[in-house]
Amino acid sequence: MTDETREPGPTPFQRILRGRRSIRRFLPTPVEPEKLRACLEAARSAPSAHNVQPCRVLVVDQPALKERLAAAAFSGLFSGSKFAAQAPVILALLARPGRAVVRLGSLIQGVPYYLIDMGIAGEHIVLQAEELGLATCWMGWFNYRRARKALGIPPRLKLVALMPLGYAASRPKREPPRRPFEEVVGFNEAPRG
Ligand SMILES: Cc1cc2nc3c(=O)[nH]c(=O)nc-3n(C[C@H](O)[C@H](O)[C@H](O)COP(=O)(O)O)c2cc1C
Repeated sequence: MTDETREPGPTPFQRILRGRRSIRRFLPTPVEPEKLRACLEAARSAPSAHNVQPCRVLVVDQPALKERLAAAAFSGLFSGSKFAAQAPVILALLARPGRAVVRLGSLIQGVPYYLIDMGIAGEHIVLQAEELGLATCWMGWFNYRRARKALGIPPRLKLVALMPLGYAASRPKREPPRRPFEEVVGFNEAPRG
């Protein structure tokens, strides 16, 4: 194979996308403040419907608060989520409901835009973290009511997800399966899947 016919390798961004995994084992190593800041700035720069920017982030990095959160949110039915407390930082992704015009738009269109906005902002954090050698895991399986209480989240903010952030102690050996391209993409017609 000559240089001209060789497939180009993945771009740096593609390497980040393909290399990212949800991490469930963390080292106690602290996250450098500048890296944490970069992840939070990545969320702040995310696009949002009508530029409402509903995403707020509560950074849990005090061990005592993290322990209180873990005891409240990761017990009983949710005890499988305890791994998150190994991470030196847990981010609580909070939504500040949008202006009336956006809420009305969501109602008319039947699409909860603020949740799209939250997903984008959260994934900005995930990808920025990955680029900096950090690891994350989106988390929706925890006791929302008790987590809100432990963190003292005021009623104006909706708790959407938790996200441990730190250095991976180990990464999953196998790549999680993905649906085939043909199942999820349709050119000029609805995808088959
Ligand atoms: C909204 C959302 C919620 C999730 N909640 C959890 C969770 O509570 N616990 C967990 O271990 N993983 C959780 N995950 C991670 C998924 O299980 C994971 O993304 C999926 O299995 C694919 O694996 P990968 O992220 O390594 O590619 C969640 C992911 C998303 C996007």
